[in-house]
Amino acid sequence: MKTVNTIDALRHTVSTWRCRGERIAFVPTMGNLHDGHLALIDEAKKQADRTVASIFVNPLQFGEGEDFETYPRTMAEDSSQLASRGVDLLFAPSVEVMYPQTRQQQTRVEVPDVSHILDGEFRPGFFVGVATVVCKLFNMVQPDIAVFGEKDFQQLHIIRRMVKDLQMPIEIAASPTVRESDGLAMSSRNSYLDAQQRKTAPLIYRSLLQAAGEIERGEDDYAQLERVATATLEDAGFVVDYFTLRNTETLNPVNAGESNLVILTAARLGQTRLIDNIVISQ
Ligand code: PAF
Repeated sequence: MKTVNTIDALRHTVSTWRCRGERIAFVPTMGNLHDGHLALIDEAKKQADRTVASIFVNPLQFGEGEDFETYPRTMAEDSSQLASRGVDLLFAPSVEVMYPQTRQQQTRVEVPDVSHILDGEFRPGFFVGVATVVCKLFNMVQPDIAVFGEKDFQQLHIIRRMVKDLQMPIEIAASPTVRESDGLAMSSRNSYLDAQQRKTAPLIYRSLLQAAGEIERGEDDYAQLERVATATLEDAGFVVDYFTLRNTETLNPVNAGESNLVILTAARLGQTRLIDNIVISQ
């Protein structure tokens, strides 16, 4: 695996492959890789001749008081995992390469409406930061396909909207959430949990499964399901930002009888904010 840190070196390598007619897949990450990321790499490798991964902890998507400084940075381990998984090229730029201008001067990409609800409400500016960095990375790599995890359901939705609205010739593939054996969705932030919180954390997925099961059996009082799940999580010590049923296509709230449903949740245990979701099979 080749590692490059500059846009020129990245473009040079990718253009050699493109001239040969090779199909290029891209997996953007912030590093501290776990099996969820590696599943994205496996999917990318299935879909293309060449796989490019990036590692960049993007300051633009962290708000005041969030964990930008302390976000785990494990470049040596990440790099050897990517190499052994068969990634062809790792792009690991510095903040100066990605943002040569000041934060205020940076042109931003905003997907309206859906960027300011759910996680966007609790993390103002987060999705503008994500859309901006992903747009820049797409322009740098110019992949045929990019792979994102379904765990970040709203992020995936926003990236799809950005690609569609800006007519970017890039296919977006989704890869299913990878879970620990007790159901906790894999996330770099799980490492922040202490032993007691780690034991409590899988209740998020159990609550999603419980609510999904009831809907699949015909329950249509969604507000009551949301209240019960929120209370269960709060009783266990979570601070729940939201536990809500939405339409998979629009992320709007839903009425009884609607199809295309997803339950989305974000809840905090101490300082650690966990998100998860489940799509309802109907
Ligand atoms: O999902 C992530 O790790 C990040 O939001 C992404 C897509 C790499 C952009 O920084």
